Amino acid sequence: MTSSIRGENLLSLNDLDRDAIVEVLDTAEAFVEVNRRTIKKVPALKGRVVASLFFEESTRTRLSFETAAKRLSADVLSLAVASSSMKKGESLRDTIATVDALGIDAVVMRHQSSGAALQVSRYVPHVRVINAGDGLHQHPTQGLLDAFTVRQVLAERRGAAGVETGSELFEGLRVLIVGDIRHSRVARSDIAAYVALGAEVRVAAPGTLLPEFLADWPVGVVDDFDEALEWADVVALLRLQRERGSGSFVPSLGEFTTSFGLTVERARRLRTDALIMHPGPMNRGVEIDSLVADSAAAVITRQVQNGVPIRMAVLYLCVAGSHGGGSQ
Ligand code: CP
Repeated sequence: MTSSIRGENLLSLNDLDRDAIVEVLDTAEAFVEVNRRTIKKVPALKGRVVASLFFEESTRTRLSFETAAKRLSADVLSLAVASSSMKKGESLRDTIATVDALGIDAVVMRHQSSGAALQVSRYVPHVRVINAGDGLHQHPTQGLLDAFTVRQVLAERRGAAGVETGSELFEGLRVLIVGDIRHSRVARSDIAAYVALGAEVRVAAPGTLLPEFLADWPVGVVDDFDEALEWADVVALLRLQRERGSGSFVPSLGEFTTSFGLTVERARRLRTDALIMHPGPMNRGVEIDSLVADSAAAVITRQVQNGVPIRMAVLYLCVAGSHGGGSQ
């Protein structure tokens, strides 16, 4: 367990205690203000080089990491994997060594294999490695931005004066995570963040989409999804991960939607102040009805917006923290 990511890699939220998570959320709060300015740029990482290596598809995470790095004044090396020499058979190790030879301070990487970010951190121990999603293992910055979004909305509602009180908003908070828990790195990171901050987490899914060894997870399992909707303060829907074979774990998409989709009718069971979340990309009409996704209770666009300040905070703490330099 670490109590700060300053100067460290960020591979998994399971490695972070409450203080480390709160430090990221508080740092992101300062960067929200930077993102509201006309000139959305600070010199915190001027002269540093961040490599953006996405070996698996991404829209939100890649764009917001690259935006975050540029707003911190870092230079960004973005590898277009599909047209890179990996297509000629170059290995991950040689690709990383090549990028490192250009002179980098950090790697932000997404990969289809669980553990790939840890592996890369061993190849280049002098470079800070930030996991942007590895297989079904972890998606740490998604967990952080989801917790940040919940804290932001609750603080606004309760008129909390400042970030000092923000993390206490999680005490007793009831979070329901629904869908393909088995294949979801977002679920793993969200659970780590919410539990560390003091929330109670329950999961709802068909038995086939629950992970093995669930008894080791710090969550409750819901028997009755409809009842759980009435219990929850926050409902987070997950996408069926068809690229990881989720389709073969349910009889049909229609049956999944009937049993576990957040339809308009089901959404009526939610408390009036409940938050609806989805990390994206959404399968509208499968895990979430389009009208529900676009309703006032949904904070899905805010989750995307918060990706930039959270990733600025992570880059700042991991990269500037390693040299004791940089200023916001
Ligand atoms: N939530 C998320 O990771 O989205 P992308 O795959 O578009 O990055």
